[in-house]
Amino acid sequence: MSKEEVEIARRNASIRVLEFLDTARVVGLGTGSTVETFLRTAIDKLADKVLVASSIDTVITARSLGLAVTDSISVDRLDIYIDSADEVDPLGRMVKGGGGAMTMEKILTSAATLRVFIIDELKLVPRVPYMKPIPVEVVPRALSIVKKKLEDMGFTCQLRIPQGKRAPVISDLGGAIIDVSPPRGWEPETISQTLDSVPGIVEHGLFIGYTDILVIGKLDGKVEVVTYRNIRARP
Ligand code: 5RP
Repeated sequence: MSKEEVEIARRNASIRVLEFLDTARVVGLGTGSTVETFLRTAIDKLADKVLVASSIDTVITARSLGLAVTDSISVDRLDIYIDSADEVDPLGRMVKGGGGAMTMEKILTSAATLRVFIIDELKLVPRVPYMKPIPVEVVPRALSIVKKKLEDMGFTCQLRIPQGKRAPVISDLGGAIIDVSPPRGWEPETISQTLDSVPGIVEHGLFIGYTDILVIGKLDGKVEVVTYRNIRARP
């Protein structure tokens, strides 16, 4: 499939998401190329919302489209959070953080009443993590200790190095990014709990239990909407 087909699939899915914006006032925005497609699609509907971004990348994109973004420090809850993912499995579990923004993405996700994720069907996998490593944000001065601890537990760890540098990518929040792969056969829940338990790890890109609605753009032009929670039953 071509890049254009994937982009059309994402745009079709983004159009379907517009209906969820009607009653929302505070809107959280993820990071990445799918979110950029969503922003371009939803620009008119977003113009009068309070927008909160998960990354400087998204602030820059939104501003380039003429959308004002509010600092996350000014909000304590969001009506809706909209993002994408790198991999999603049938239980709605996700690997995120390809753009290194998973810490703020998880924080905004956790503060939203409704969480909607847009993907093209190429991101569906039988079980996470599948092909992608899990991005992990680490306190920079704890890097060697965290890496050794994870390796002792059987993880493989790769510092995310930007081109032309030897030091790892530093996130918007000041953490170093490493990409880790767990030992074979570990359940996603076990991986998540293990990463949560290591001092020095700020956050990681395994998102479990955060997907309310998954909107999947298919390459044949169709859109599938999967609901993981009874939204009306939510407080
Ligand atoms: C950024 C993310 C993105 O949602 C993920 O990497 C997907 O990006 P794209 O839409 O560019 O494929 O988690 O931290």
